[in-house]
Amino acid sequence: MTTAIIGVGNIGSPLARHLVGGGEPVVLAAKDEAHAQALAQELGPLARAASVEDAIADGDVVVFAVWLDTIKELIVRDARLLEDKVVVDPSNPLGFDENGQLIRTLPEGQSSGSVVASLLSAGAHFVKAFGTLDADSLARATNREPRRAVLFYATEDDAGAASIERLIRAAGFDPFKVGGVADAWRIEAPGGDLHQLGLNGELVDLDQARAAVAATEVPA
Ligand SMILES: NC(=O)c1ccc[n+]([C@@H]2O[C@H](COP(=O)([O-])OP(=O)(O)OC[C@H]3O[C@@H](n4cnc5c(N)ncnc54)[C@H](OP(=O)(O)O)[C@@H]3O)[C@@H](O)[C@H]2O)c1
Repeated sequence: MTTAIIGVGNIGSPLARHLVGGGEPVVLAAKDEAHAQALAQELGPLARAASVEDAIADGDVVVFAVWLDTIKELIVRDARLLEDKVVVDPSNPLGFDENGQLIRTLPEGQSSGSVVASLLSAGAHFVKAFGTLDADSLARATNREPRRAVLFYATEDDAGAASIERLIRAAGFDPFKVGGVADAWRIEAPGGDLHQLGLNGELVDLDQARAAVAATEVPA
């Protein structure tokens, strides 16, 4: 299985490093291909760089580690290439205003996961994942001891779930499914109760993840 990572910034770089560390081959792309090449060279034989189109074409899984507005552009432009791929969305509904201030870019109540999923063709396998921690925590918490940290994910798709569980484990974390696309908001920021920010900055292990999810379940 090859994982294409589009974007080698704060999220894409540590993710690529962790996956290669876990033995997963990656193909990296960025706006400036030289950035992807530099990281691929640093990571060694399991990593290579390509154009965005070639990376998508070569990946079984495609992680869009770019800002939401860029994901929207790329998945519409490259819809045909994404047929049958597992498409992983780590985005938060955030962008910058004209003063460089971070702002919410979607109405309250609308998740970026629901927007990305709605733009994909029926043949793509959507998964929300890899955006539940801040970039620093993602970089540092791989293979945490004595108990691994959890990365939450959301999908309705069995193939997507199998792929993301494998990648989360390879990256040195424990996977935990929170539900489907309708639950994606729970692992996004701002506002998601299972995003690191919603958990007061904590990184949870599997037992704590189960407890956090159970605490919000309405009794039957
Ligand atoms: N940063 C965090 O703590 C954090 C936490 C959770 C989730 N997220 C989410 O993760 C996503 C990535 O955030 P980030 O902080 O990693 O962003 P970032 O550091 O700004 O990196 C963005 C990457 O996207 C690439 N890119 C931009 N336009 C592109 C295009 N048209 N085609 C291909 N690549 C393009 C950039 O390429 P160049 O290298 O060539 O500029 C860069 O490598 C966002 O959706 C964000 O909401 C971020």
